[in-house]
Amino acid sequence: MTRENLSYWELTCGTRPEFAPLSGDGTCEVAIVGGGLTGITLAALLARQGVKTIVLEADRIGSGTTGKSTAKITVQHGLKLHRLIGGVGEEKARLYAEANRMGADQIADFVDALKIGCDHMRAPAHVFAETESEIKELEKEMRAMETLHVDGALADRCDLPFPVKAVLTTQNQAHFHPLKYLFALVQTLVQSGTCALHERSRAIALERGQRCLLRTRGGTVCADTVVLATNYPMVDMPGFYFSRLHQERSYIRCVDAQGLDIGGMYINAGKPVRSFRTHPGEGSTRLLAGGYGHKTGRQGDMDSYGDLQKLVENRFNGHMGLVAQWSAQDTVTLDNVPYVGTLSKEAPNVYVAAGYDKWGMTNATAAALMIASAITSAHHPVGNCAAAFDPHRFTPSASAKSFLVQNLDVIRQFTVGNLAIPFDSLNTLKKGEGRIMGVESDAAAAYRDEDGDIHVYNAHCTHMKCPLTYNQMENSFDCPCHGSRFGTDGEVLEGPALYPLEKKDAGEKD
Ligand SMILES: Cc1cc2nc3c(=O)[nH]c(=O)nc-3n(C[C@H](O)[C@H](O)[C@H](O)COP(=O)(O)OP(=O)(O)OC[C@H]3O[C@@H](n4cnc5c(N)ncnc54)[C@H](O)[C@@H]3O)c2cc1C
Ligand code: FES
Repeated sequence: MTRENLSYWELTCGTRPEFAPLSGDGTCEVAIVGGGLTGITLAALLARQGVKTIVLEADRIGSGTTGKSTAKITVQHGLKLHRLIGGVGEEKARLYAEANRMGADQIADFVDALKIGCDHMRAPAHVFAETESEIKELEKEMRAMETLHVDGALADRCDLPFPVKAVLTTQNQAHFHPLKYLFALVQTLVQSGTCALHERSRAIALERGQRCLLRTRGGTVCADTVVLATNYPMVDMPGFYFSRLHQERSYIRCVDAQGLDIGGMYINAGKPVRSFRTHPGEGSTRLLAGGYGHKTGRQGDMDSYGDLQKLVENRFNGHMGLVAQWSAQDTVTLDNVPYVGTLSKEAPNVYVAAGYDKWGMTNATAAALMIASAITSAHHPVGNCAAAFDPHRFTPSASAKSFLVQNLDVIRQFTVGNLAIPFDSLNTLKKGEGRIMGVESDAAAAYRDEDGDIHVYNAHCTHMKCPLTYNQMENSFDCPCHGSRFGTDGEVLEGPALYPLEKKDAGEKD
């Protein structure tokens, strides 16, 4: 019932490893919740130290944002560095860049050491400007890179097949096939004998204590330490993460681009964000064009896939056959530096890693290194960067404004969202159409499937009861408050929600 949102990586990763859901009670030293890049990298690092782990994954390993990424591995994060210097200061910006460099190096080390065939290729990363004001932004970023000793050079041309005014290039970055990489790490975990992996095992409760207890529908896991590698933390308290994170959704179109060579990976300096990279596909080059994102639940009447199609057709010389298109979301913190460390001061044996702001290949790997080093007390130089990522940090100049803006906005969604729901008859729904509508004085999330059957749910998110919106691009019910998503079958697609939508009687269907 929910539209398949399979990425190019999911379509070309070969046979996915498969693991049984958790059934019964397990114990381990470290329980890792979430089988994306953060969770699996951490498990692989801990396996090297012989630490016994259990990984709980709500869906399939790699089915979250990792399997839907553009998968550029770079320390050049668009225009981020000069903004970080302005927000959190030069020292923390330096630690951010340094940690990400170590994250990129760790990926290359794993690829070399384990001989992982994941199309890991070196390529320059470029930011391009198309207007005079964007050139000024590139110049500021260039100065920030000089200050932080990150490689960068400005030029006035590049290999994109459309004119740009300037380009800022960082050499010797990389890209890869994220799922081939992830599944190779999973294979080493299986071989290590120290890690048990469980798919379709959503953690729905965490009881903290000297030993922690995680509950799924099928069983429990008791662990000395728990790591929430769920992209958005599955618990809100302590730490008030719901008030300090938001989720951004973005779209990718992958097309057949035989013979195309654009000389690296690109992101634009302006808005809307547009990103390009190529990948050596099966017998042909693939072009991945991404962007046209929005805050989750705020899609309005956007047509991001249509915009991407026009972008590819207009900028890359006509029609290129569609191979796959998909969307995904990532979390963003108040000051744009991830939260990596203990969940709160009262929970020293629960770790969290979130808020990569769509630069998670390097950030997730750096986070895994930091947490592995903290848990095992084995020194790693990335530990020197941990202060910048501390989830309990106080960065008023970078955070105060976004805290106010975001939380006032959430309050607005709770009130205006409810008032704006139009009353209508379920019979007005066409096949394949979903809507949030008032039905008999109640707000309903309603969907009519292709067989004509109507499915009706409570239109309030099961996280904190925010009124949902219908995302017509994805056929899903999305929450504008903290970004949970539900399929047309009512099941949770993405958290922080842990429970499906409450089903209601479709009553008046014809
Ligand atoms: C469109 C897009 C393009 C991007 N491109 C790039 C890029 O080019 N370069 C880059 O560096 N970064 C990029 N990113 C960001 C990067 O992909 C992510 O930051 C990174 O993959 C996040 O990894 P993760 O392991 O934290 O999360 P995920 O991969 O989402 O893994 C978290 C896992 O936790 C599971 N989970 C959630 N809740 C529970 C629960 N309660 N119990 C059990 N399991 C649970 C989920 O099912 C999921 O599998 C992009 C992001 C997007 C959205
Ligand atoms: S995600 Fe928090 S209320 Fe919906």
